[in-house]
Order: sequence, then structure tokens, then C-alpha cells
Amino acid sequence: MAEKLDLSFTKQEESRQGEVFFQEAPAHTGQQRLFYIESYGCQMNFSDSEIVASILGEVGFQPTREMEVADLILINTCSIREKAEETVRKRLQVFNKQKRQRPDLMIGVLGCMAERLKAKFLEEEKLVDMVVGPDAYRDLPTLVAGAEEGEKGVNVFLSREETYADISPLRLDSNGVTAFISIMRGCDNMCSFCVVPYTRGRERSRNSYSILAEAQDLYDRGYREVTLLGQNVDSYKWENPETGDVVNFAQLLEMVAQVHPDLRIRFSTSHPKDITDEVLYTMAKYENICKYIHLPVQSGNSRILKLMNRTYDREWYMDRVRAVYRIMPDCTISSDIITGFCTETEEEHQESLSMIEFAKYSMSYMFAYSERPGTPAAKKYADDVPEEVKKRRLDEVIRLQTQVSYHHNKADIGKTFKVLIEGDSRRSDQEFKGRNSQNKMIVFPKKHGLRPGDYVDVTITEATSATLRGVVKGEE
Ligand code: SAH
Ligand code: SF4
Ligand code: F3S
Repeated sequence: MAEKLDLSFTKQEESRQGEVFFQEAPAHTGQQRLFYIESYGCQMNFSDSEIVASILGEVGFQPTREMEVADLILINTCSIREKAEETVRKRLQVFNKQKRQRPDLMIGVLGCMAERLKAKFLEEEKLVDMVVGPDAYRDLPTLVAGAEEGEKGVNVFLSREETYADISPLRLDSNGVTAFISIMRGCDNMCSFCVVPYTRGRERSRNSYSILAEAQDLYDRGYREVTLLGQNVDSYKWENPETGDVVNFAQLLEMVAQVHPDLRIRFSTSHPKDITDEVLYTMAKYENICKYIHLPVQSGNSRILKLMNRTYDREWYMDRVRAVYRIMPDCTISSDIITGFCTETEEEHQESLSMIEFAKYSMSYMFAYSERPGTPAAKKYADDVPEEVKKRRLDEVIRLQTQVSYHHNKADIGKTFKVLIEGDSRRSDQEFKGRNSQNKMIVFPKKHGLRPGDYVDVTITEATSATLRGVVKGEE
């Protein structure tokens, strides 16, 4: 068991709410061991939880949605903003209550916060049995065996090679239609505000053929959409050790698109500095590569972008946006925006607002800057924009984006889109929900004979800033 202690780093919040992963819980036989897992943060973490589930499955652990019957409780944590850390601490209190009632219960902390806090976690949270970083999940069976003997374990070793390429993820809480495929891990970009390079280590790309095999297997099992995941997918680069051939992201996209015309491909996240015209032309060439790009700008101002070490400026970003719309007029773009980064002035903030209008984002994820200890920004710049100013700017950004999203969606009324049905809508089992190629969620009344995984043409009749509503074409 590796026990590498490197206490050099950083800190944390959440991008997504904690979600409980489950499958049909098997009967608790006493023999069978059950694990319960909650995941926070980005899609990468959710995807990792499926790798964890597969690794634990190999040693006889089955997933359960009820923590009360679990032998092992895991929490896959996020470090991106401070709030996530607070959320995890609160969840740990709930788990600890369980442990006081059932001393045999094991608790494990996984993911980015495990990587940040390392062995310190065991001191701070006395009831935690194991702390496992994102590259150490293969060690889980050993750590669990140790915990069963009352031994606390830490493995936060960050690897240069690990991609879990050979592990077939156990799809948890799946709709059976859409799935994530990790194509790379880590990040080499060093954006000054960001903790990810410290919590996930160096960037490495996964074997293209294992990605293809996973996509094919998903298609064969009825899935109809895969999202290729990486912190910066445009820098995907895999060298075939046998032939020396190198596969770049555009080529990988093309390979996956050819698995089957009915398998939709999405990907996330694109870095504006690396997205090439070759990628855009490949997207345009294949109908099944979705016409949607998440292209986080972070700030609309060149000076702030430089301080953020994003390595592009406002003009470069605007040029990329123009290229997207030129090559794919029907493509949508979404973004991430941070307000109140170190030294940001009111005028510079205005440039983030004007970028929302220029790029016509269909939606954005928007955040107030949260300093992460150990990051370049924390070391070099004062976090000097007052909290209330960050929040006010955030409100302005959210308000404008909501308007832009509303207009974007309103313009779809009367259009017909090919929608992949994902399941029942949140509100009613009389309605289906699904997304169009542009990643917009569309809700429409069910029609006899249709089921999740089917494609259907839907004509849009109503729009809000978040959702489109429509009717199956021909039923208007
Ligand atoms: N790899 C992706 C981002 C992953 S993190 C990319 O480069 O775009 C997701 C988002 O969280 C970031 O795009 C950024 O907008 C936000 N974020 C990251 N660090 C942050 C911080 N310290 N404070 C506030 N938001 C942050
Ligand atoms: Fe963080 Fe930048 Fe890497 Fe994205 S590209 S994960 S923001 S360092
Ligand atoms: Fe959070 Fe780690 Fe993802 S910090 S956003 S879970 S890479």
C-alpha cells in the first residue's frame, strides 16, 4: 500500500450538488458487502466514481443507495471552490453519526479534497478510515482490507501514467442512454486560480483504442450518447507505442463518431487556446458530433486573462467564437465566468458582460472568485475585490446571461430539432425530456411507441431561459 505524504498544497466548493449513485440494491445477505457513494464536483469525479464502483465490484462490493445498510461509505470530493469543502464536512458529520451507531462501518474520502488534505484529513476527521486520491483507486481493495483490520490508510500518489484504461466503469445511477467516457486525466495548464493541476496531477491521455472499445460497448448496450471528458480535451494526444502514430483530439473525435451514426458524441471541456479549426471541421463533418461547445472564457478582459494565466486574450477568444459560428452556424457555445478575480476593476468586469452578448452563450456556469491556498494566484496576488462586490458582479453576470439564454431559446420557437429521449421529465411521467444537438433540454408530451434512447423530431412551442417545450413533429 503506497503511503506517500506530500503536504504541499491547496483548498475547496462544488460545481454540482452531491448526488447519490445507485443501482438496484441487492438484498443484504450478510455475506455480501455493500458500498454507498456520494459524488461532488465535475463530471470527471462522477465518472471516477464509476471506476471506483467497478474496482470495488471486483472484490465483492455492490452499490447501495441506502447508507444505513452500507459496510463502506465513500465520498468523492471536489476542491474547486471553498463551499464544496464545507459541504463535504457537513456530509461527513452525517456519516460519522452512522459510524457511532455501527463501529464496523468504514468511511473513505476520495477525490480532489483527499488529494489536497492528504493525511491531515485523518487527524481532522477522526472517524475517516481512508483517504484516497484520484490516481490511487486501484489501491482501494487493499485499503479497505486494511480498514477492516482497523488500520487507517492513505494513498494520494499522483501518477504520470494512470488512465484506468483497462477498467470498464460500472454505470451508476444511469438512464441507460447517456454516459461519460474519460479520455484523459490531470491538467498541465496552471491557470492561476485553479486547484486542479495540484489535485489531479499531470495531464495524460488514454489509449484511443480503449476509448473506442468503451464507446462501442456502450452503443451495443443501448446507450446513444457519450461525452468525452477531460479538463482540456483539445490537448488530447495519444502515441501508439507499437506504431509511433499519434492521435490528436480531432482524430479521436472522428474515430468515435464512426462507431455508429446513431451514437451521439459530446465532449467537455474545450480550452480556447487549444481548440483548432481541425476540431471544428470534424464536428461539422459528422452529424452525430453534437453542435455544442463548452468554451469557458473565465473573463472578457485581456489583463485579467493574463493574470489568470489563461494564455489567450479577448481578441483571440473572439476569433475562436467567430470561427465556431462560421464553420457551424447552428452551433451553440456555453461558458464559465469568474467574477471579482484579483484586482478586477469595474471596467474589466464590464468586458465579461459584453463577452456574454458577443459570444451569445446559450448558458454559462458563473462563480465568484474563491481563493484556493497554494495556487499561483493565492501566492502572487491579493484577493482584493471585496466579497460584496464579487457577489454584485456575479448577480449582474447571472442576470445578463439569463436574458441572453432566454433570447437564445426564444429564437428556437417554431424550429424542429432531433431530440434524443433521456427519460421522463422531472415534473411529469406524461412527458419526456431529451436534448437536441445544441445541448438544450427539451420537454414534450409522450407519444405512444416512443421510449428512452429513441430519436424523435420535436417542434418547439415555448421557451424559458432554461428549457424548451415542444411537441412531436406531426402532432402539432
Ligand atoms: N478545465 C476547465 C475548468 C474546470 S474547473 C477549463 O479550463 O475551463 C470548472 C470551473 O470552475 C472553471 O472553468 C472556473 O470557471 C471555475 N473555477 C475554478 N477555480 C475557481 C476559483 N478558484 N474560484 C472560482 N471559480 C473557479
Ligand atoms: Fe484548471 Fe485551467 Fe486546467 Fe481548467 S485548464 S482545469 S481551469 S488549470
Ligand atoms: Fe472539483 Fe476536482 Fe473536478 S476540484 S471540479 S472534482 S477536478
